[in-house]
Amino acid sequence: MRTKQTVLNEMDCILPAKSVNEGVARAIVGAFLAQLDPTVEDLSDLRCAVSEAVTNAVVHGYGRRNETDGTAEHRVGLSIAILPDRVVRITVRDKGCGIEDVERARTPLYTTDPAGERSGMGFSVMEAFSDRMTVRSRPGKGTKVTLYKKMK
Ligand SMILES: Nc1ncnc2c1ncn2[C@@H]1O[C@H](COP(=O)(O)OP(=O)(O)OP(=O)(O)O)[C@@H](O)[C@H]1O
Ligand SMILES: [Mg+2]
Repeated sequence: MRTKQTVLNEMDCILPAKSVNEGVARAIVGAFLAQLDPTVEDLSDLRCAVSEAVTNAVVHGYGRRNETDGTAEHRVGLSIAILPDRVVRITVRDKGCGIEDVERARTPLYTTDPAGERSGMGFSVMEAFSDRMTVRSRPGKGTKVTLYKKMK
């Protein structure tokens, strides 16, 4: 059984799955974590990781059709929690197509992008810029990426 983590402060928001909201998500992370007075490096790492996760939800989870239709029910959830000892937990979730093989998806350079625009490095960036990353996904149901980082 898992014990529930103590949360000192938290926020949740839901954004339409549009690529402009990658920048919005980055800004929200900066605004909410200002209370920890983070180092520039820690903050920039987390902002980068979050923008990769949101990009994945928009591009892979839902596909590009969202760009033209902001009224569709395609949404990306962003939760930020401050845990004891300056540990930050960030969750990015979508109700998109899901990932069939998470382990394979996390492999560096693995991409399903047919146009060759993507490098398959998003999960590697998220892993490098956080202390721990978990990915839960179910095909047809969606994906939830959780990032943990202890701030200096
Ligand atoms: N939220 C998601 N929903 C569905 N599939 C996803 C999601 N996130 C990642 N994937 C799958 O995992 C693969 C690897 O993701 P990753 O972010 O590492 O690379 P990428 O997005 O293809 O390229 P890059 O991030 O370098 O632009 C994607 O190509 C996609 O198939
Ligand atoms: Mg990616």
